[in-house]
Amino acid sequence: MSKPVILTGLRANNDLHIGNYFGALLPLIDMAKNHADEYEINLFVPDLHSFTTPIDHAQLHGQIMHNLKLFVAAGLPLDHPNIHIYRQSYVPAHSELTWILDCFTGMGEMNRMTQFKDKSQKLLEVKPGEGYAGITLAKEQQISVGLFNYPVLMAADILLYGATYVPVGDDQTQHLEFARDIAGRMNNKFGELFIVPKAVKEQHEFFGKEQGLRIKDLSDPSRKMSKSDETGKGIIFLGDSPAEASKKVMAATTDSAGTIHHDMDKQPGISNLLQIHALASGEELTDVIGKYDGQTRYGDLKKDVAASVSAMLTDFQAKLTQVDEAALMTKLESDEKQMNEVANATLLRVQQAVGLRAKA
Ligand code: TRP
Repeated sequence: MSKPVILTGLRANNDLHIGNYFGALLPLIDMAKNHADEYEINLFVPDLHSFTTPIDHAQLHGQIMHNLKLFVAAGLPLDHPNIHIYRQSYVPAHSELTWILDCFTGMGEMNRMTQFKDKSQKLLEVKPGEGYAGITLAKEQQISVGLFNYPVLMAADILLYGATYVPVGDDQTQHLEFARDIAGRMNNKFGELFIVPKAVKEQHEFFGKEQGLRIKDLSDPSRKMSKSDETGKGIIFLGDSPAEASKKVMAATTDSAGTIHHDMDKQPGISNLLQIHALASGEELTDVIGKYDGQTRYGDLKKDVAASVSAMLTDFQAKLTQVDEAALMTKLESDEKQMNEVANATLLRVQQAVGLRAKA
């Protein structure tokens, strides 16, 4: 590939909500469209990563395809020659490079990864026989070597394609640093094998640190809308019916100030509703604020927000049913073929360097 590569993994996850949609999905698609003429954009589903913690395997295959459809419904173009979409497990070089990199990675390095610590801690808190993500765990299933190894597979994902820019959330920056470390280490030992991705600071400069707005939970506007809200009452999922979503909006926590002002500290619930309204309707936030500021009937604002959210969901769900699955499969298969060529070329260089293949 001659153009510089921007690469990121689209985590498979069935219950996306409007916080993910406006905060991550849409900004990522915009980024891809904006840069596609000057960069190669690799967007892949890290399906091998998806069972580093236990999952219901009966659902996985459907989830991967569903996730890809969500991206297409949200506007990811299938006809841009520089935007490549693929499934990690369809490019076997990811697994093979992971093994090789594993043998140059220290246990201590992996032990320091905060995501490993957090996720393994959560697993330790599950009592044997108790449910985790909807399934029952046996004791020995709890913390897998795959979870430990997660960052090495992620480094392979990045290094196989020589990616320079890798947009990731804050929870993934340590993994990105590891990808830089292992690339540098291999280059020192074996000569120039890998392109080292840019440091986190340069990534932020390139992509802009502010990755979309943070939508707050409707029932507890002091925290962001997140899957970890057990009740789901404060979360609007992309799959919610307009009626369900309206009910959640009407039940949103507000305040007793009695007058509408956009003020994140004093009126977080109201401010969140104004932001959601702007995003769902496509109006500028300043216009929305101008329209409601000083009004006193919270119920009227809620009705308007419920209407704009319902319309947005109806529209998105219609687009989802209209996704051309045959076109999606054709694109995936042709991109996967192309990606195998790129990835295998890198893998061969590494195999030659470590002595598994004769040098050219
Ligand atoms: N670990 C990333 C996440 O949880 C997903 C991912 C896997 C990824 N491989 C990647 C992101 C490579 C960027 C590059 O969000």
